[in-house]
Amino acid sequence: MTIDFILNGEDVVVRSDAEVRLVDILRDSFALQGTKESCLTGCCGACMVIFNGLIVQSCLIPAFSIRGSEVITIEGFSQTDEYQDIVEGFSRTALDNCAVCRNGKILAAEALLERIPRPERQDILNAYRGIRCRCTDPDTLVAALQAAAEIRWRRIYGRSA
Ligand code: FES
Ligand code: FES
Repeated sequence: MTIDFILNGEDVVVRSDAEVRLVDILRDSFALQGTKESCLTGCCGACMVIFNGLIVQSCLIPAFSIRGSEVITIEGFSQTDEYQDIVEGFSRTALDNCAVCRNGKILAAEALLERIPRPERQDILNAYRGIRCRCTDPDTLVAALQAAAEIRWRRIYGRSA
């Protein structure tokens, strides 16, 4: 089948069997290796992308669901000021992020901050339920997201919230 969708802000078209996973389309057809493959069962969060504004496991999305959608991967998002806000917030709080989980954690932060610019602790913990990482304690995760939120707020409004 032919699938047209928006990928990192560009209109794209790809030919694929209907049951092929989005993660494989991104990696194999578009060479976007920042979307990682790990469990392939929706359990780890390594393959997270922003799909129509929501953070989702791309290993759970079949090709037939992609048509007409908007997909943002880490490669596209890393070109933005919003990416810099998040990376700075993670860095200031020394949030652990390894090669497997880093991109998913960043995209989860973006999906959350777009929806809730000043997230509370429970908003943050809920937003990271799909990312399996035993290396990070919840307090550090909350601090990292609140730091990123503050940095973004200051960049946009020129003052603290
Ligand atoms: S590879 Fe998709 S959630 Fe683990
Ligand atoms: S830092 Fe990557 S899985 Fe924990």
